[in-house]
Amino acid sequence: MGKAYYTPEGKASRAKPALSFFDSDMKPRKTVLITGATDGIGRALAEIYQKRGDRTVLVGKRALDALYGALYRKDTYCQADLSRSDCADRVRAFLNAQRIETVDLAIQNAGIGYFGAIADQSAESIREIVAVNLIAPLRLTHALAPHVKKANGKHVLIGSVAHAFPRSDYAVYAASKEALRVLGRNLRVEGDMHVQVIHPGATRTGMHRKIGWDSERAKGFPPAERVAQKIARAIDGRRAVVTIGWKNAWGRFLGRYCEGAINNLMRRGTM
Ligand SMILES: NC(=O)c1ccc[n+]([C@@H]2O[C@H](COP(=O)([O-])OP(=O)(O)OC[C@H]3O[C@@H](n4cnc5c(N)ncnc54)[C@H](OP(=O)(O)O)[C@@H]3O)[C@@H](O)[C@H]2O)c1
Repeated sequence: MGKAYYTPEGKASRAKPALSFFDSDMKPRKTVLITGATDGIGRALAEIYQKRGDRTVLVGKRALDALYGALYRKDTYCQADLSRSDCADRVRAFLNAQRIETVDLAIQNAGIGYFGAIADQSAESIREIVAVNLIAPLRLTHALAPHVKKANGKHVLIGSVAHAFPRSDYAVYAASKEALRVLGRNLRVEGDMHVQVIHPGATRTGMHRKIGWDSERAKGFPPAERVAQKIARAIDGRRAVVTIGWKNAWGRFLGRYCEGAINNLMRRGTM
């Protein structure tokens, strides 16, 4: 009797599978979709999963020819502007074109912010933050639910400790992340989905420069690669809500359960 191989869909086959579906240990490869995979934490996550031998579907708003590196190819990169209402259709069309029916991990990482008082912020900036940080994860969770369910996979929402820790300059960003946390919590009690919410703390990425914050001050933050490693380990685990780093976990705890005291400290600028 010859050796039997199995396709990612679980069908037995005598034919040796194409390497593209199996890693070197002949285990079926996972399909990992990551939004905001062109920079910062998302790009670092894409590198981790690619090194593991998983199949990556990387979503970003830049054109493919504006990206560098072996991560981004026609069959791995889906250009979709997540601030637009057609973003989920674009991602679905990409999966169809690549004949991808199952997604093991849908990591919704893309995020944007604004630094400054809400009165100084434009209405367009508010719309964009809510669209990318909240509406796009809603649309994509809805669109990808059948793919993730078929794989018995997991939806991962990248939040932020900012949802629990008030700052005078991040109101819209923090509100969008709090709403994302609530989305994850409600989807979990629907019972039919595996949903994980992961809250990183301050991380050294291009985000601070993009939102107009003094990026010199971000130099002391841990780099995206280290934070992405911790996020990937959290995704391997089973905890429904994870805060990256014990100091951030304490901060999130205090921010949530000692709200009045923390608000006073933040208002006085002592923290
Ligand atoms: N950095 C921190 O201190 C920190 C702390 C806590 C939580 N987080 C969260 O971690 C996640 C990743 O942030 P990061 O620090 O890695 O930021 P980043 O370096 O700016 O990366 C964000 C990614 O999202 C993409 N993106 C932005 N707008 C998009 C749109 N309209 N359509 C598609 N993609 C879009 C960006 O693309 P472009 O590069 O083309 O703009 C980039 O690939 C975010 O959800 C953020 O809120 C970050």
